[in-house]
Amino acid sequence: MNVFDGNKFLNTLLLLITTLIAAKLISSFIIPKSKKRLPPILQGWPIIGGLLRFLKGPIILLREEYPKLGGVFTLKIFHKNITFLIGPEVSAHFFKAPESDLSQQEVYQFNVPTFGPGVVFDVDYSVRQEQFRFFTEALRVNKLKSYVNQMVSEAEDYFSKWGSSGEVDLKYELEHLIILTASRCLLGREVRDKLFDDVSALFHDLDNGMLPISVLFPYLPIPAHRRRDNARKKLAEIFANIISSRKIADKSEDDMLQCFIDSKYKDGRPTTESEVTGLLIAALFAGQHTSSITSTWTGAYLLCNKQYLSAVEEEQKNLMEKHGDRVDHDVLAEMDVLYRCIKEALRLHPPLIMLLRSSHSDFSVTTREGKEYDIPKGHIVATSPAFANRLPHIFNDPDKYDPDRFAVGREEDKAAGAFSYISFGGGRHGCLGEPFAYLQIKAIWTHLLRNFELELVSPFPEIDWNAMVVGVKGKVMVRYKRRELSVNQ
Ligand code: HEM
Repeated sequence: MNVFDGNKFLNTLLLLITTLIAAKLISSFIIPKSKKRLPPILQGWPIIGGLLRFLKGPIILLREEYPKLGGVFTLKIFHKNITFLIGPEVSAHFFKAPESDLSQQEVYQFNVPTFGPGVVFDVDYSVRQEQFRFFTEALRVNKLKSYVNQMVSEAEDYFSKWGSSGEVDLKYELEHLIILTASRCLLGREVRDKLFDDVSALFHDLDNGMLPISVLFPYLPIPAHRRRDNARKKLAEIFANIISSRKIADKSEDDMLQCFIDSKYKDGRPTTESEVTGLLIAALFAGQHTSSITSTWTGAYLLCNKQYLSAVEEEQKNLMEKHGDRVDHDVLAEMDVLYRCIKEALRLHPPLIMLLRSSHSDFSVTTREGKEYDIPKGHIVATSPAFANRLPHIFNDPDKYDPDRFAVGREEDKAAGAFSYISFGGGRHGCLGEPFAYLQIKAIWTHLLRNFELELVSPFPEIDWNAMVVGVKGKVMVRYKRRELSVNQ
């Protein structure tokens, strides 16, 4: 490049910069300023925005920014705006808005290759609503009653294999028991009795195919996704066989599989085999890890808080005096103390730490400090059970394990209305499996409390923030001793 060319280049560059500055100045005078009161935006890097901070962990980010910015702020990641709505004062619209305003379909698309085609997030909202009606019907009290009998007998069976004393990893044990129980109640007798090993290996491949990277790129050609896709195909074949043999034999069972086989859309169309398989996978994904993680946290807290351990043992004693050894739906329903102990473990450790929606119309929120913000259409909207469940203006001494905070007279879970406690979400998309989950966890702990003396021998567990369903890190070693007069001997 000669000197002349160099000068020409510099002049052009200078002209360009001057034009850009002039255009910016003119536009700020001429173009009327948006009247929107946008939430504060977190500073980030060019192009990637706040990606690195988000990847470090959304809860770390919330802990840093909430004290400075309050419950509403926006994080830019590439071209996407994620607006956080933290706390019951600003999250009502998140939970109550109709699908046309705030939808799940786009943000939960990454589930489609796992659940399979034609179900849940792969179908229009009207169809999805009907499929969720199938879930609701499969989880009605009359059905729950028969699932409880299966939960109880699975727990008896499982723990009968423990010796008279020993040491176990409680996390591993409860994961296994819950997959066995879920197989029985949800997937059906055929899987539980004959195909358990094959089917759990396939579910394992489905599980391992859902990685953080899958959220952004669900179809990335990586080995984990290939194994996931193969597993999904094989599961479809297995269930197609089970369904057709049930139909040929004209046999009906007491499980969720049967409910889905018998379900019909409003126009009278029965579910297809592929839809039944997809709905069962969705049920297992929604309920299995969430419940086993919660059972483990409940145990860890009870064993470290003797006052609550004694309270739940006392409750069991009273119920046994009243009902004998009988454990069924109605007996479990009487366990208020145990219920509060589970609920408190779940407040401190909700396995689903972030809930997301995609916004299709502008809306406004008012913070508890009285600031008003307009959230534009096009934003991804997020709330966080893990963060909101520990807000000190809702929960007294929020990091303390204190099940009595839910007792009559305190009821901190309702302190600021319906969305104060959000481990199960709430509103329009609140968890449909909540009663099932409590019954299952209660059935397990009823058996353990009645039959064993337990002691936590490893340190109190840490949180595994890296998992998709956030759970317990490492082993949870427990020493057990069978009680002299254990009820099932
Ligand atoms: C401790 C156990 C569980 C926890 C913590 C939990 C948590 C949640 C949460 C937070 C949501 C709301 C998601 C959102 O708003 O985006 C949800 C929805 C749902 N859960 Fe659960 N869940 C549990 C167990 C179960 C079980 C056992 C089942 C079924 C057998 C189940 C089925 C569902 C379904 C079908 C939905 C979707 C509801 C809808 O979108 O209308 N869950 N769950």
